[in-house]
Amino acid sequence: MACISSPDPVYNFAAGPGIMPREVLRQAREELLDWQGSGMSVMEMPFTGEEFQAIQRQAQQDLRELLGVPDDYRILFLQGGASAQFSLLPMNLLPPGATADYVDTGHWSRKAIAEGRRYARINVAASGEARGYRQVPDLASWRLDPQAGYCHITSNETADGLAYHWLPETGEVPLVADMTSDFLSRPLAVERFGVIYAGAQKNIGPAGLTIVIIRDDLIRPARPETPSAFSYQVQADSNGRFNTPLTYAVYIAGLVFRWLRREGGLAAMAERNRRKSDKLYAAIDRSDFYVCPQHAADRSRMNVCFHLAEASLTAECLQQAGAQGLLNLKGHPANGGLRASLYNAMPEAGVDALIAFLQAFAARHA
Ligand SMILES: Cc1ncc(COP(=O)(O)O)c(C=O)c1O
Repeated sequence: MACISSPDPVYNFAAGPGIMPREVLRQAREELLDWQGSGMSVMEMPFTGEEFQAIQRQAQQDLRELLGVPDDYRILFLQGGASAQFSLLPMNLLPPGATADYVDTGHWSRKAIAEGRRYARINVAASGEARGYRQVPDLASWRLDPQAGYCHITSNETADGLAYHWLPETGEVPLVADMTSDFLSRPLAVERFGVIYAGAQKNIGPAGLTIVIIRDDLIRPARPETPSAFSYQVQADSNGRFNTPLTYAVYIAGLVFRWLRREGGLAAMAERNRRKSDKLYAAIDRSDFYVCPQHAADRSRMNVCFHLAEASLTAECLQQAGAQGLLNLKGHPANGGLRASLYNAMPEAGVDALIAFLQAFAARHA
């Protein structure tokens, strides 16, 4: 755990909320009391006022340019986190009694499936369960329902360390993706999706903010019991003014989008993320002391999940890592072991420090 006299530098490997770009935090600190001479903190601004509207417009435009979001898609800044979307998707997209396809690749897709079942008939088109969630099921094994209202995937399984490095072809059935933990980590063919959603707390900004990118033809009246604040149509029609948006979180997300543009955009991020994760996986694979059971082709570049061959050393390893400023490496409670989250803001130096620590720890216990 970080303590009052924490070592310097500190690298935060938390799975989420996770590391933020230092530059963004410094800018937020500078602007905290007075945003660009307005005499107000962003936190104090009326959301309908010109200042905040400009912040929101800029954030949307930067995100649109970063991702190459086509004109016939809307970008919504919603509240409630990605878990709320597990319910809001079927409430907004499916009439009662309709079916949706879901692909089960691990912890977060199981959560989405469990919640989806409260509102729809769920067809689990494929599952990685029988293989211990060590790989993304081969597209050839998927049993898609051509009548499904959408097909849901989890592009990156935060707890299991698995990711799609390809996109499924689902024909006329809109592809929907929970991208909470790999959003903005690589370029994306947005036009291949009907809906993309992501909680902000990994690569975007403060928890609670939820980004939904939705194709125009899928914006339709939600089921009557859906709270209006969670209706995609109401939010799209009012341009986010139906209720008070998460103004400060939108501002921070906007700073992150600007930072990403300065850093060279998503192609540069993808290259950096590939380098960081490749060297950590290589260090794990080279040693008998650490084990990453995930199929090499499906490993996540955001959440590197691994364990010690001698599990009884895990607590000591985590404690010593923490003492050296390598924070929050504990694996997801469902899976145990270690997990190093290498979001966009994690510098390569953090990964180098982690590798050096893991090698030294292994040498001490060999
Ligand atoms: C892939 C994925 N989906 C959904 C969630 C849930 O997000 P939230 O806590 O914002 O509801 C998480 C949280 O870590 C996640 O990693």
